[in-house]
Amino acid sequence: MTMPQAPARTSVQSPEFAAFARSVREARTCRRFREDAAVPLAALQALVDTARVCPSGANRQPLRYAVCADAARNGAVFPHLRWAAYLKDWGGPVPGERPAAYIAVLCDRKGSPTPEIDLGIAAQTIQLGAQALGLGCCMIGAFDRDGVRAALGLDAEPFAALDIVLVLALGVPAETRVLDTVGEDGDIRYRRDADGTHRVPKRPLASVLLLAHGDGDADTGAGRNHEGTAGLPPHA
Ligand SMILES: Cc1cc2nc3c(=O)[nH]c(=O)nc-3n(C[C@H](O)[C@H](O)[C@H](O)COP(=O)(O)O)c2cc1C
Repeated sequence: MTMPQAPARTSVQSPEFAAFARSVREARTCRRFREDAAVPLAALQALVDTARVCPSGANRQPLRYAVCADAARNGAVFPHLRWAAYLKDWGGPVPGERPAAYIAVLCDRKGSPTPEIDLGIAAQTIQLGAQALGLGCCMIGAFDRDGVRAALGLDAEPFAALDIVLVLALGVPAETRVLDTVGEDGDIRYRRDADGTHRVPKRPLASVLLLAHGDGDADTGAGRNHEGTAGLPPHA
């Protein structure tokens, strides 16, 4: 058996890594959509097909999925979702800006040592996949379980035994979202500019990468992270 060749060089400057990093940065939560732009069922199916091969604790694979791109059913799901708790003056997307599709993630907790971790991995994989398809995504953990269950027709056997653990709202984005850096005041709340741009503050690299043991240059090359703040502290 031949082993795969080790890469000659592991470069953070490579186009592959740059594309990956850009995709992660751009895959910001989206809460306003072009509701009239349909999301094909084939796209939802492809996203689930990708999520199903994600890592899973003890490979138990406890997650299941229900997808919906039906306007009438979407309308039944929507009232049970809670949007953007930090945006006190905004009641969620208005008609015309609501999600065009949903993926509900269900979980059979029996036997899985890590259902929440599995869920996070799958959800981020779907969000990145959606980004690659030109779709925006909002992970929604604050929702009325019974309401969503009934709206999606998950209240009968064999689904009734499964918990609905997350709803992913999807659609063609109708809002601009950008990254900011958390400032000195430590405020992590996202906010909206006067022009409607959604700004999401993230902690700078220097405040999350606490230690870097080992040889070599731990800097990204530019010495700065994407938001323009200092990268690694000098001692790292
Ligand atoms: C587990 C989880 C649950 C979330 N639940 C909600 C929710 O109920 N409603 C909502 O509007 N956003 C929800 N979000 C989106 C977060 O508010 C969002 O990830 C956060 O503001 C950071 O923005 P970003 O995703 O663009 O980095 C959730 C995100 C995660 C990871």
